[in-house]
Amino acid sequence: MATVTLTNICKRYEGPSSQLAVDNVNLDIADGEFMVLLGPSGCGKSTTLRMIAGLESISSGALSIGGTQMNNIPAKDRDIAMVFQSYALYPHMSVAENLAFGLRRRNFPGAEIDRRVKSVAGTLGLEPLLARKPHALSGGQRQRVALGRAMVREPVVFLFDEPLSNLDAALRVNTRNELIRQHHRLRSTMVYVTHDQIEAMTMGTRICVMNGGKVAQVGKPLDVYWQPADTFVARFLGSPPMNLFPATLVSDAAGYRAQNEALATPLGLWDQQTLARASAGPITVGVRAEDLHLNREAFGTSSLGKVSGRTVAVEPLGAETLLLIETPAGECTARLPRSISVQPDENIDLFFSADAAYLFEGATGKAIFNDKPRALYPGQGLAQ
Ligand SMILES: Nc1ncnc2c1ncn2[C@@H]1O[C@H](COP(=O)(O)OP(=O)(O)O)[C@@H](O)[C@H]1O
Ligand SMILES: [Mg+2]
Repeated sequence: MATVTLTNICKRYEGPSSQLAVDNVNLDIADGEFMVLLGPSGCGKSTTLRMIAGLESISSGALSIGGTQMNNIPAKDRDIAMVFQSYALYPHMSVAENLAFGLRRRNFPGAEIDRRVKSVAGTLGLEPLLARKPHALSGGQRQRVALGRAMVREPVVFLFDEPLSNLDAALRVNTRNELIRQHHRLRSTMVYVTHDQIEAMTMGTRICVMNGGKVAQVGKPLDVYWQPADTFVARFLGSPPMNLFPATLVSDAAGYRAQNEALATPLGLWDQQTLARASAGPITVGVRAEDLHLNREAFGTSSLGKVSGRTVAVEPLGAETLLLIETPAGECTARLPRSISVQPDENIDLFFSADAAYLFEGATGKAIFNDKPRALYPGQGLAQ
């Protein structure tokens, strides 16, 4: 078991690009934590993971594992096991031989190898498959062998780089659950790279959202979902992504409100001094698709925001219906009950509780409030 600490870690690849692939990353991963590095393709997730593994040199900054500086320790001496997207099992070896291979190469005694292979095969349900070759396994079974090969090493840290992305949807869910179970059982430190926000939300003890080589936000999944630090995180976590509208802050006797040509929301619950400071520049209003409703009566007397537009698409998904509307301030998606009946090309008003609105600085995209009042927030993490 071990902590992993990244301090001001940078990576600059040789070559014409002057941009840092990883730009001053600071991250404290606790012992036994499942930390997910989440972000779009090219944001530096794999590079960060490979620097932890020792497969990529660190341009500057410090990496320590279990309190020991690791910058110059070769990969093989870091007590880490890595599982990649491509499993790279040895095709001519049986499952048992694949599991044992790494230990054999490290000259473990035969009895110890047998013990570990048996134990891991039992844990992962691989016993009936031990004699098979990889070509006779399903994608999910191969993935379990790849995980098993990492587990027999009994490493202090597991590193995963998009290990599920080659699997079909159903298998991905199964294997995801399997990994969650294994993490609960092993309690090892795990660092897991993905671009899939559902994987991040369901697996992570915490999520580290990355954008352009930088850390955009670190926190527990629901904390990041409820309190995104900026518009990038707000859109990356959540499906469909949060709706964002350019707007301005105006005030009258009733206090501040945010508005544009399609949207208006009162902001009476918010700190008026902060709003006064923010009102000097443009702002961005965010509303999650699931916070939008057709029916204003559903809200009782709470103060309401409204966005108006024309329906362009109605997508019944079975469990719910997605409604896309076009407004003078941009497109907007609502996640509505399956029972709604709306036609394309209708004029429509969508309502949201005023405290479901998010506010960001227009110029920087940074959240204006990190601790805004939210009646809807179930409270995870706020009280710490
Ligand atoms: N070996 C390499 N040489 C040069 N540039 C690289 C190399 N590997 C990755 N990069 C660049 O570094 C950035 C981050 O890549 P990567 O860490 O693979 O991102 P992610 O895993 O988030 O998709 C990208 O711009 C990518 O093109
Ligand atoms: Mg990658």
